Amino acid sequence: GAEREAVLQRIKALLQERDAVLVAHYYVHEDLQRLAEETGGCVSDSLEMARFGRDHPASTLVVAGVRFMGETAKILSPEKRVLMPTLEAECSLDLGCPADAFAAFCDAHPERTVVVYSNTSAEVKARADYVVTSSIAQRLVAHLAGRGEKILWAPDRHLGHYIRETTGADMVLWDTTCVVHDEFRARALEDLRREHPEAAVLVHPESPARVIAQADAVGSTSQLIQAARELPHETLIVATDSGIFYKMHQEVPHKTLLAAPTGGRSATCHSCAHCPWMAMNGLGNLLHVLEHGGNEVHVEESVRQGALRSTQRMLDFAQ
Ligand code: 13P
Ligand code: SF4
Repeated sequence: GAEREAVLQRIKALLQERDAVLVAHYYVHEDLQRLAEETGGCVSDSLEMARFGRDHPASTLVVAGVRFMGETAKILSPEKRVLMPTLEAECSLDLGCPADAFAAFCDAHPERTVVVYSNTSAEVKARADYVVTSSIAQRLVAHLAGRGEKILWAPDRHLGHYIRETTGADMVLWDTTCVVHDEFRARALEDLRREHPEAAVLVHPESPARVIAQADAVGSTSQLIQAARELPHETLIVATDSGIFYKMHQEVPHKTLLAAPTGGRSATCHSCAHCPWMAMNGLGNLLHVLEHGGNEVHVEESVRQGALRSTQRMLDFAQ
């Protein structure tokens, strides 16, 4: 209603006043995605969010997503102020890979090249040789394996397994999962495909191997949206966070989009996949942070330097 419109207008005015730009992930509420689009910010996957924030001239980046996304922005742009609607938005992969235990794992495999997923803390990134996002993980590991390097991979076990299978790289894997994607069920997906034999299946590689095995396209959120555009199928079954449907509907309004079945119940919808931490971002806390300037992301300088090295290698390779 009128109140919501007033909040939106106030946020838009404050973004300008504060020389701030909104950088949002596809999994946050569509109100935030729309706002980012309307105000010259960006909505994208984690690799593109990192690049956009680094290259944008604004002195303040407001990152709507989870903590590692805010940290990545700060790692790449220490001179910018990085704010988040909430600093409580974690990620189960980040939580499942504490820096001290990870360092011990690395110490146990000194001969291996350490590749970590971007869904990790700055401390973990500082210990790594390379950071990767899901959009580039397979290509980078294939490149390293081609040079004869053995890989230590952390933290997502499903993504690590998928990369090992598809590249043949020699990899040891850390063992944790994304609480959202780990819930997709292979059997139930087979049933749904039988009901919709005309459908193509799009899967984020944080999903279990038996779900990935049924995919017509596997990739990052941006890559799945691209696949939705490019595949000829009129019906798409989508195994990733339901936040992606906002953009996917926009891109292929004539196609039928079905959510892949999950075993669990998310906090915000009955039987669909939705990240509880992404869901913590909203118009209310975005307005609050713009008005009061709290929730600033800080990364200790020596840690930042280390994390920048491994993150920069990814960006150089991605070009
Ligand atoms: P993308 O890099 O594919 O956007 O993935 C980030 C993420 O958190 C997926 O769960
Ligand atoms: Fe982390 Fe999974 Fe949430 Fe992505 S969806 S932020 S991987 S918990």
